[in-house]
Amino acid sequence: MDNRPIGMFDSGVGGLTVLKEVMKKNPNEDIIYLGDSKRFPYGSKSKESIIQLTKNGIDFLIQKGVKAIIIACGTATSQALEEMQKIYKIPIMGIIEPTVEYIKNSNKRNIGIIATTGTIRSRGWERALKEQIPNLQITSKACALLAPMAEEGWTANIVAKEAIHEYLKDLKPLPLDALILGCTHYPLFEELIKKELGENIEIINTGTTLAIKIQEELKKRNLLSNKKEANYQFYLTDVETNFIQVAQKLLQDQNKIEKILLANI
Ligand code: DGL
Repeated sequence: MDNRPIGMFDSGVGGLTVLKEVMKKNPNEDIIYLGDSKRFPYGSKSKESIIQLTKNGIDFLIQKGVKAIIIACGTATSQALEEMQKIYKIPIMGIIEPTVEYIKNSNKRNIGIIATTGTIRSRGWERALKEQIPNLQITSKACALLAPMAEEGWTANIVAKEAIHEYLKDLKPLPLDALILGCTHYPLFEELIKKELGENIEIINTGTTLAIKIQEELKKRNLLSNKKEANYQFYLTDVETNFIQVAQKLLQDQNKIEKILLANI
């Protein structure tokens, strides 16, 4: 047993979509969430910058006494996870591996991936999928504007609808079995994406499988918490603008977010 918190990290509100799933599956676990709002967006930055920023985030969370870290960011997972796992002893999990495992165990072989420019450029998803699963048909598409729109809370308005339509128009005619939301901001557009692509394509929210995987991982290492009620702490690296609003809408429980603390990194 280990009642220390889990640390979670993203550039902004996107990781909250992972947090939501982790909370649901792991109701006993305290969580410290860090959103690096000062340096958002990560999606357009170089690999070197992403490695440095991810390291800063992890150092901050380790200082707060976490027992494990979830990189709840596709951009940081695809470009910095391997590097981080070499540097740190603490368990660090990203969003790619649990979803790759899920697809491997399914019969889905025609896969679409949407993510930030940096993630698509890194080919991190493609490499991880092809290493594990032969005969995959993969189509990737960078959707640079979606994460900034999600930060703004524009996930259901006419602009969001048009943007989703524009970004998905090349994927729509393809015989896809599943579409991976390779950026953690994108589940905030899930309704619009479903409407655009129809019911036959499974939309994969990476948080869902990660939430199960982290539980298995903590159990294996004897790190599960036995707390009756979990605590949640939220840090941003710059002033709060839309974070609370997006979080309350997504988590549908105002008590979970009482205040936002400032992380001075
Ligand atoms: N939520 C992030 C991701 O999953 C980052 C988006 C951004 O900062 O550009 O890629």
